Amino acid sequence: MFAEAIYEDLKTKLADVVPEFELHYKADLAAEIIRLKQERNAVILGHNYMEPALFHSIPDFTGDSLFLSRKAAETDKDIIVFCGVEFMAETAKILNPEKTVLLPAAKAGCSLAESITAEDVQQLKAQFPGVPVVTYINTYADVKAETDVCCTSGNAAAVVESLKSDTIIFLPDEFLAGNVAKETGKHIIFPTKTPGMKFNNGLDYQMVGWHGRCEVHDKFNVRDIENVRQQFPDVVIVAHPECSPEVVEASDFSGSTTGMIRYVEETKAPRYLLLTECSMGDNIAAANPDKEMLRLCSVRCPHMNQITMEETRDALKYTQYVIDVPEHIRVRAVKAVERMLAIG
Ligand code: 13P
Ligand code: SF4
Repeated sequence: MFAEAIYEDLKTKLADVVPEFELHYKADLAAEIIRLKQERNAVILGHNYMEPALFHSIPDFTGDSLFLSRKAAETDKDIIVFCGVEFMAETAKILNPEKTVLLPAAKAGCSLAESITAEDVQQLKAQFPGVPVVTYINTYADVKAETDVCCTSGNAAAVVESLKSDTIIFLPDEFLAGNVAKETGKHIIFPTKTPGMKFNNGLDYQMVGWHGRCEVHDKFNVRDIENVRQQFPDVVIVAHPECSPEVVEASDFSGSTTGMIRYVEETKAPRYLLLTECSMGDNIAAANPDKEMLRLCSVRCPHMNQITMEETRDALKYTQYVIDVPEHIRVRAVKAVERMLAIG
């Protein structure tokens, strides 16, 4: 009966984007997951990139990285199941050392998090002594531990401006850094990985970046946008700030995943091109049946894609995969995360 009610709810929301047999199958799974969640006193946090049936059935909260970090910080449940990627679950653990945090996949990484190590940050700090370091939340705990304050795509410019520093190191996403530099009127440079190299003080720069990229958003380019605008002159183009500054410049709006969702909801235009992960495109399409969503291609994040409903059920059943952060790293990383949450 419970599964039947979930099926009816999913059908109302997703009949146009998910086949009927899949809705039946996923409704049964969702009923089992919700029962396990209650038995184990768990909360499920679901990132906006989760596939439509999961996104619309089992999470207690859905949202972008910033919102879910806040929810992780607030929860009183014993177990946090993070339907997202590893750096998100790790952030939840950094904020909740006494709770069990589970990621429903043995490995769900992120090309940005993989792009930089704690040693890289140490080297940069030696090259630019005294310059505050802002790290994107899409990094691992040991990198966060080396930095002053974290940010997400939802608050990056606000975090940079809050520091009131002439120069800032911003890591590791070169595109997000480029977009923030533009927004805050700073000139950005990208140093080479040369140990011991000192920068000429005569150079005019206020931001120091790193060459990390999101493998999903890196695929979009300005030529694609021009082609779509030629075919559909009334299209509204919405891009995540992990896209290149040129792509963001050629778009009509750029914001965090939740910012993009709200923008489509609040805008009256009939047709949109979404430059982001394609499951979120499905979720936006489901929530806005009166609007047409164009997609350039089917770009699923291969890491977000690891999180399935079967794996989420098994996470709760078998307490897997447990996220651990060594305490000496956590106590340093938590300062950067809490500082970000305090900025808002
Ligand atoms: P948001 O913080 O905008 O949800 O983005 C996270 C992410 O990994 C986007 O690729
Ligand atoms: Fe990382 Fe890009 Fe996947 Fe987001 S979409 S988790 S930034 S690889």
